[in-house]
Amino acid sequence: MRENGLVVISGATKGIGRAIAEKFASQNYPIAVCARNENDLEEVKSLIVNKYKVKCFTKKIDMSVKSEVLEFGKAIEELNMPVSVLVNNAGVFMPGKIIDEPEGALETQIDTNLYSAYYLTRSLLPLILKSDNAHIFNVCSIASLMAYPNSSSYSISKFAMLGFSKSLREELKQFKVKVTSLMPGATYTSSWAGVDLPEDRFMKADDVADIIWASYNLSPQAVVEEIVLRPIEGDL
Ligand SMILES: NC(=O)c1ccc[n+]([C@@H]2O[C@H](COP(=O)([O-])OP(=O)(O)OC[C@H]3O[C@@H](n4cnc5c(N)ncnc54)[C@H](OP(=O)(O)O)[C@@H]3O)[C@@H](O)[C@H]2O)c1
Repeated sequence: MRENGLVVISGATKGIGRAIAEKFASQNYPIAVCARNENDLEEVKSLIVNKYKVKCFTKKIDMSVKSEVLEFGKAIEELNMPVSVLVNNAGVFMPGKIIDEPEGALETQIDTNLYSAYYLTRSLLPLILKSDNAHIFNVCSIASLMAYPNSSSYSISKFAMLGFSKSLREELKQFKVKVTSLMPGATYTSSWAGVDLPEDRFMKADDVADIIWASYNLSPQAVVEEIVLRPIEGDL
């Protein structure tokens, strides 16, 4: 029987991260999440503990700041629990073109979408390597595979995230740690707030959580290396 170790998810008070947290909590896994808004963290913790009756560790962390990412890793280590799953999910989408986007847009998205995952993974790897059947999911994007005209810096960060994820897969296969790169298309979350499109044109965050859960449940001999998930009517 596989032990239900900790499921660590960055940026899990809303959207895709939250759906993944609820999915694993509903299957009796203890959860550790971070985000920047403390009230949202308290709300998620209360929901997970009361509805799913599992432990939920929360920490206010800005994943775009390296020292805070390392602080999150240290706090997880101090919980003294095996880690079954790491989901590098925290990310920000700032539309813009190279020619005229605000100064710093590239740095913010690289810090939040890429370095966050690199440093959290690095800090948790010693723990992950001690776990049986550990699995790392890296939330990339369709924008890791193709560029969009008004999403240049986002796409740069997400192409790099896929490169990171592929490298990690190569590096960790000898240790039998699974690594999955997830490339979702448009998913209805607060990232799309204010967009004038019908909700049913998007995937649901629960669709993403369901495919992660399914991938996690393969036999120890198999890994899903890449998942490309799109709205039924295609990209937006
Ligand atoms: N939605 C889509 O269509 C879509 C498609 C492809 C890929 N993705 C990727 O999926 C991931 C999740 O996106 P989403 O749409 O679910 O986003 P979302 O609904 O905006 O939720 C983002 C979550 O991450 C947290 N977060 C954001 N910046 C953070 C930071 N600097 N430090 C710590 N936590 C942070 C947010 O909480 P706080 O604001 O309180 O920090 C929130 O809990 C991202 O990596 C995104 O690029 C999304």
